[in-house]
Amino acid sequence: MTTVRNIPISVEWKDTYIKLLDQQKLPNETVYVQLKTIEDVWDAIVTLKVRGAPAIGIAAAYGLALSTKQYNVESMDEFKDLFIKDIAYLASSRPTAVNLFWALERLTNVLHDSKSVNEAKTNIVHEAIQIQVEDEAVCHQIGDNALSLLQKGDKVMTICNAGSIATARYGTALAPFYLAKEKDFPLSVFACETRPVLQGARLTTWELQQAGVDVTLITDNMAAHTIIAKQVSAIIVGADRITANGDTANKIGTLGLAILAKHFNIPFYVAAPLSTFDISLKTGAEIPIEERSETEVTTIAGVKVAPDGVSVFNPAFDVTPNEYITAIITEKGVILGDLKEEIVKLFQ
Ligand code: MRU
Repeated sequence: MTTVRNIPISVEWKDTYIKLLDQQKLPNETVYVQLKTIEDVWDAIVTLKVRGAPAIGIAAAYGLALSTKQYNVESMDEFKDLFIKDIAYLASSRPTAVNLFWALERLTNVLHDSKSVNEAKTNIVHEAIQIQVEDEAVCHQIGDNALSLLQKGDKVMTICNAGSIATARYGTALAPFYLAKEKDFPLSVFACETRPVLQGARLTTWELQQAGVDVTLITDNMAAHTIIAKQVSAIIVGADRITANGDTANKIGTLGLAILAKHFNIPFYVAAPLSTFDISLKTGAEIPIEERSETEVTTIAGVKVAPDGVSVFNPAFDVTPNEYITAIITEKGVILGDLKEEIVKLFQ
């Protein structure tokens, strides 16, 4: 058993600030920034300094904890007024990843259970830390469960970055590769670059390479050919929101990979914690899909690659219908078969 040391962490609570790995600067610079206010946290989420559904939830929870610590009020009513405004503010940062709203709801429940301002401040900090601690354990379990579906020598394709820096640690879709490395269980990864903002090229390869995982970068339009040419045996992706029937929102391009998996008859796995499920929504058609700035499409790494004035469509996510998903890998086990029925059972 090898211990993999280089598994990066993106968010750390430092009591008066959040230490954040600036994912926008990777892989060229490894820079940590200090977020001292809720505005800093909101901005970090919007500008993708922190991204990936669980990491967004963790950062938002810490942002709320930072802000509530600074409330200069004596009554719980005043506290709640400020809290409600802060929740609405953080919730306005990005719409698709449900972990953001899930984390804010956890802190809201903690507030409701607190009897004084001081108790609320302490409990909110503890709960935010707990969210991160739990996520690390959850990701490790997802990694174990995912690894049980893979064979030695498998070549696995992924998109975006559902890795350690998108979570508390280990990641979701990338967790099995870290655990496989520890167990000397050979696997290789094909990482789609993930236009427009290149989370695959910049982040997934950066993470896996440091941990010594065998990773090969391809551009997104090479996926079909690579599945044939390199005999890719499975596709595994993360998720931003999974609805009650198993439809899954994830990074734009995921749906295309799911269709390819069906065509080539290879399994298509979604790896996600229960905090990514939104069973209040019946199907993926109800998931709000974020649209981001045109410049993400008209530029690559700051260099203009399209003429001025061209019209642009830039959805950040797509929705994969449940019938394309072989299994959803959670910390509670692998959901197989009729996803809708199994999800009902899981959340009963
Ligand atoms: O826009 P991003 O980079 O936040 O999108 C991230 C993804 O789509 C991830 O696959 C998803 O959040 C899961 S991260 C464990």
